[in-house]
Amino acid sequence: MDKLLIRGGAPLNGEIYASGAKNSALPILASSLLADSPLKVGNLPHLNDVTTMLELLGSMGVDVMLSDEMEVQVDTSSIHNLNARYELVKTMRASILVLGPLLAKFRQATVALPGGCAIGSRPVNLHIDAMRAMGAQIDIEDGNIKAKVNGRLKGAKIIFEPVSVTGTENVIMAACLADGITVIENAAREPEVIDLANCLAAMGAKIKGAGTDVITIEGVESLDGASFSVMPDRVEVGTYLTAVAMTGGRVKIKSAKPEYLSSVISKLELTGAVIISGEDWVEIVMNESKPKAISLTTGPYPSFPTDMQAQFVSLNAIAQGNSTVTETVFENRFMHVQEIARMGGNIILKGNTAVIEGIKKLKGAPVMATDLRASASLVLAGLVAEGATTIDRIYHIDRGYERIEEKLKMLGADIERIS
Ligand code: EPU
Repeated sequence: MDKLLIRGGAPLNGEIYASGAKNSALPILASSLLADSPLKVGNLPHLNDVTTMLELLGSMGVDVMLSDEMEVQVDTSSIHNLNARYELVKTMRASILVLGPLLAKFRQATVALPGGCAIGSRPVNLHIDAMRAMGAQIDIEDGNIKAKVNGRLKGAKIIFEPVSVTGTENVIMAACLADGITVIENAAREPEVIDLANCLAAMGAKIKGAGTDVITIEGVESLDGASFSVMPDRVEVGTYLTAVAMTGGRVKIKSAKPEYLSSVISKLELTGAVIISGEDWVEIVMNESKPKAISLTTGPYPSFPTDMQAQFVSLNAIAQGNSTVTETVFENRFMHVQEIARMGGNIILKGNTAVIEGIKKLKGAPVMATDLRASASLVLAGLVAEGATTIDRIYHIDRGYERIEEKLKMLGADIERIS
């Protein structure tokens, strides 16, 4: 099994490009199921989760053509199987995103019920309740969500509590082909929801309010294919910026969208980093020998993203001063804490808060990746640790960070993939 070997201590300097956003690519690929003609999706990141979504569509008989530039053309005219199998769903919970489109377009779907997850229980009750409110009949049988609807789904008022990103996306997609108007209240405001809505609008959907907490969708009879380019990955960009705040140096990230990173950028500025940005680029300059500790609480967008929490725990572990990091979105997203502690980090967990005392230096150690963002935090810790860090189970990283070791190497890090 591949591992990452990092010898810490090098500052990061140079330029890299941001990849396309995983959490935007996944719903957009699922939305191809709604179209009567092929959907072309560009700027797809080369990631295991994207491959899994393409494999899932392929397993239904959908025709997927991939170009060298990772532009994909998805044609659903050959679909013959409306089933998302457990073998794929268990490797990627975002497979639930096919439920809404399949029901709306083909009026039935069988989607394996995702099980537990390393970061929390992550139920899908809100997705199921919403489809029922839109007229679907849903039974849970043999570990599967079996859903069908007589005729079209019906527009409905859906109130999310708590706010759910993929829940909002599933309802938007289902509502596009439903009969009548759907109003989503307490909708997720994440930029990835806006990106999906923009793609659906290009396909002919009528959606208002994406990016706000009330989204209104007027169902249409049919949607066409379109050509759409996925937005840049704000979590990837945020992760590299945080790395530089820890290692020192100067890095410019091109093809980024800093507008969607304000909560992260404002925290990074408090560490002592200087951040300059334009519409599609962002640059960080870190001249301080160490970042200042930063306390934060995660929350749905536009609050500080839970997907950046682990990286800031790493930053705080070597920062000047003490801090608290509180996680409010997932109940168990602190698996990285014990691994950072193996590198000497002084972190105590009190309920959903990590209490962190910044120390002078982390020490390299063998550590294990437990989930995607936890893995990223271990990479950051390795970049500043004294000596060598080996990170095991990096298939988690490959789900969400495109060519991470190549990008970091280009910036001067001493990092390699070993087996
Ligand atoms: N929730 C329920 N019932 C539901 C759905 C969600 O109780 O039916 C709860 C969850 O358990 C959680 C909260 O609602 O406590 C929010 O979860 P949400 O549904 O928003 O998460 P998600 O849609 O499953 C997406 C991202 C995650 C990201 C979260 C929060 C995708 C494919 N995944 O997950 O990304 O952390 O939103 O922003 O978009 C990652 O990229 O590493 C990642 C985990």
